[in-house]
Amino acid sequence: MTRAVNSLLLHPYALQTEQRSEPLGIGERHPRLSWKLHSDRRGAAQSAYRITVAERAADLDDPTRLVWDGGRQESGVSLLVPWDGPTLKSALRYHWRVEVWDETGTTGGTAQSWFETGLLHQDDWSAVWVGRDPVSLPHFDPPQDDDPESSALQSPPLQLRRAFDVRSQPVRARLYATARGVYEPHLNGSRIGAAELSPGWTEYHRRLQYQTYDVTDLVTEGCNVLAAIVADGWWCGYIGFDPRRAAQHYGDGPAFLAQLVIDFADGSRQVVATDAAWTEQPGAIRAADLLMGQIVDARRHTPGWDAPTPGLTGFRPVAVLHTEHGPLVAEPDNPIRVTRDLPATAVHQQGPGRYIVDFGQNMVGRVQLTVRNAEPGQRIVLRHAEVLNDGELYLDNLRRARAADVYTTGGGDKEVFEPQFTFHGFRYVEVDHYPGELTAIDVTARVLHSDTPWTGHFECSDPTVNQLQSNIAWGQRGNFLAVPTDCPQRDERLGWLADAQIFAPTASRNADVSAFFARWMRDVVDGQDPDGAFRDVAPIVTLDREAAPAWGDAGVIIPWHLWRTYGDLRALDHSFEAMAAWVEHIRRHNPDLRWRNRTGNSYGDWLQVGVNTPRDLLATAYFARSTQIVAEAAEVLGRLDASAEYRTLHAAIRSAFIESYVHDDGTVEGGTQAGYLLALAFGLLPQRLVEAAIGHLSADIEKRNTTLTTGFVGTALLCPVLADHGRADLAYALLHQHEYPSWGHSIRHGATTIWERWDGWTSHSGFQSAAMNSFNHYSLGSVGDWLFGRVAGIDQTPGSVAYGELLLRPLPGGRLTWARAEQETARGRVACGWSLADGVITVTATVPPGATAVVEIPTVDSSSVQESSSPAASRPGVLGVQPTPAGATLRLASGHYTISAIAPELTSLAPQ
Ligand code: BGC
Repeated sequence: MTRAVNSLLLHPYALQTEQRSEPLGIGERHPRLSWKLHSDRRGAAQSAYRITVAERAADLDDPTRLVWDGGRQESGVSLLVPWDGPTLKSALRYHWRVEVWDETGTTGGTAQSWFETGLLHQDDWSAVWVGRDPVSLPHFDPPQDDDPESSALQSPPLQLRRAFDVRSQPVRARLYATARGVYEPHLNGSRIGAAELSPGWTEYHRRLQYQTYDVTDLVTEGCNVLAAIVADGWWCGYIGFDPRRAAQHYGDGPAFLAQLVIDFADGSRQVVATDAAWTEQPGAIRAADLLMGQIVDARRHTPGWDAPTPGLTGFRPVAVLHTEHGPLVAEPDNPIRVTRDLPATAVHQQGPGRYIVDFGQNMVGRVQLTVRNAEPGQRIVLRHAEVLNDGELYLDNLRRARAADVYTTGGGDKEVFEPQFTFHGFRYVEVDHYPGELTAIDVTARVLHSDTPWTGHFECSDPTVNQLQSNIAWGQRGNFLAVPTDCPQRDERLGWLADAQIFAPTASRNADVSAFFARWMRDVVDGQDPDGAFRDVAPIVTLDREAAPAWGDAGVIIPWHLWRTYGDLRALDHSFEAMAAWVEHIRRHNPDLRWRNRTGNSYGDWLQVGVNTPRDLLATAYFARSTQIVAEAAEVLGRLDASAEYRTLHAAIRSAFIESYVHDDGTVEGGTQAGYLLALAFGLLPQRLVEAAIGHLSADIEKRNTTLTTGFVGTALLCPVLADHGRADLAYALLHQHEYPSWGHSIRHGATTIWERWDGWTSHSGFQSAAMNSFNHYSLGSVGDWLFGRVAGIDQTPGSVAYGELLLRPLPGGRLTWARAEQETARGRVACGWSLADGVITVTATVPPGATAVVEIPTVDSSSVQESSSPAASRPGVLGVQPTPAGATLRLASGHYTISAIAPELTSLAPQ
């Protein structure tokens, strides 16, 4: 086959199956396939593709051995291409290849990948649930901990094992496993895989995820041992602020379900599944709880417990708990993993054997501690805190989360302690009763989160703004853990809906959160009641009540966002009935279209500063917004009658809003910043009053010495609305503000994550009430979307999906002399940046193959616009240049561009 010169090629890369790369054990019978495209040539686009699938990679070259040959399809589509091949078999690896042709019909590159199905049929499972036989418990002494909370901890985690013989070396072995609790699987003395806190947290009554592991290399001929530790986790430990353990929500003790499937070269198969032949004995882990911490007594470690070890004693038969499997589903997104380690930045000795270690970053995970030459029986306590108070840990804001790990030494030259069934939100750890001298090399912080691929980068000339971006990213890392949580440290850590919808646009800048959110959306939808009301949190614990305005609306906003950002039409389709039912629920109980009834625990503009945005105004604005989205979603899904109906409803809600909350002089009821922002952002003002409303909003900000009053809801809209209505100067002034309340204020006081409250700590009043004062809450970090979208300038046009038509709008302003961002989007790499020097603005833009871009160049002279130092209009890939009042607009085909023009006039730079 002859190929075009390499630089002309169009390359597919980053192949994905169901929005994941090389997923092991998918549950989809009709998985969707995607690839991204790269080319060094301007204007490159895919005109056709061909997908081929085989059971062995080598067979992809043999047309007679293909499972599916999709043939050449004349199409530019590269995202979520539906499976049109034969029905998939269970537990099988499929290799697939995509070949693409460019817009000239020339063959581009090919790329290949694979996915593997999980157990697609319930009767593929022969395993049964096993747990502790209660008679083995008296052999266990309850934890001897001086903290009264520990007595409330459950019995020790299960330590399970099963020995079995294998007659020859297998060609393939897979473990399918899950737990009621959280588990760590082992085989022949090795830990299996790198997933943490599996199976994660879902609405367990409805869905429990199982994981698939490739254990081919761990199984050996002869005697083998499959083993696991299972701790309480979300299943039966403490969760939320409910003083009851989760046992009250889901079930009693932990349990394990696993099936090891071993295939031999002759085509025969051996299955080892959880059953009555398994045995159990508590081990070194004496208690483990997500909120409380983990207690380990190394003296109780049973060497060789997870390997074929002769002479092991004490293991007793398990109890077979249930024979039915419950609602098992394949894990549809990446698991939680340790994604990086942070070294200690300082170790302070506070007293004999007592140290405080600083990791320099508020984060989520656990500490790994090394102990050398200790006597057996030394009890070391690790306590975790986000901040210090007078040089000591500030623990009050953790509320009932004990967040303490206890390690009792077993003795020996070197012991390494790392709790695996808990997580803490901390920057500081106090190590108490440490034997010997603690140095930085003995402590490492291990960062844990749902391993959503990191895809975004933002940077600018201002170090404080860069710190803000870092704080936002760290808030996302720590709080995307199994579900999108409000906070990671106190006795809460719940999937609050408003927090998630407010932050989702920012989250999808930083990382590919498509599969993560699509999965969590199932929990949100599962939580909906027959009247159509969502819940404030998902999964539901503690707070089983109708969702509040802006909280329940997550059930509408997030599926729409996933469609716009990732082109996930199926997620939208699956959510549509639930989205419409939510709007109908509000309409049914509010026939006058002002949302005043059934507002749940109406939180308003939660944690606003010294003002009171009318709750019914906020609610009605969200009612309008959700209805508008449902109308647009209906149109995308081809439900045209529904679309027309919801458009009419939206117009009526808008009129009701104007009638009730908007005055003729452009003031909005309540006069708060959030009120104006909602009205402006959601298009709820008559056009003739927009300018006046912007004037009132700006005046309010200015009269408060350029500070905000907004809470969770209003803050997300603040900078975008100002910048889009001619007040970029004010948006930048708020961004650069460092007096309270502002992002800069928290950074000035050492924040390395986003605080829950603007006044988490102030010089005038110290700490806010410990009853609610998290230092790692991502909601007020929703400005991150604007940093990428306007400050650097990466956005898409209103009708565009998955960045198919980019809107690149660099916005020089404030103190910045340059800014740039890049995002690995579903389609490929997008970048935009600008810099100002010597009276010239230079804008760089990268548009992936198949996409186009509208680029707004701010300049005082539209005729000065050049691309790669030549007049822009004559350059390849430049499809058009149009003068505008603010400069010039260029239309670009795919490619990488460097555009320059005479710099814009910047009227107001923020104070230094
Ligand atoms: C949580 C939130 C949540 C709020 C509801 C708080 O306790 O931390 O972030 O959205 O309650 O008002």
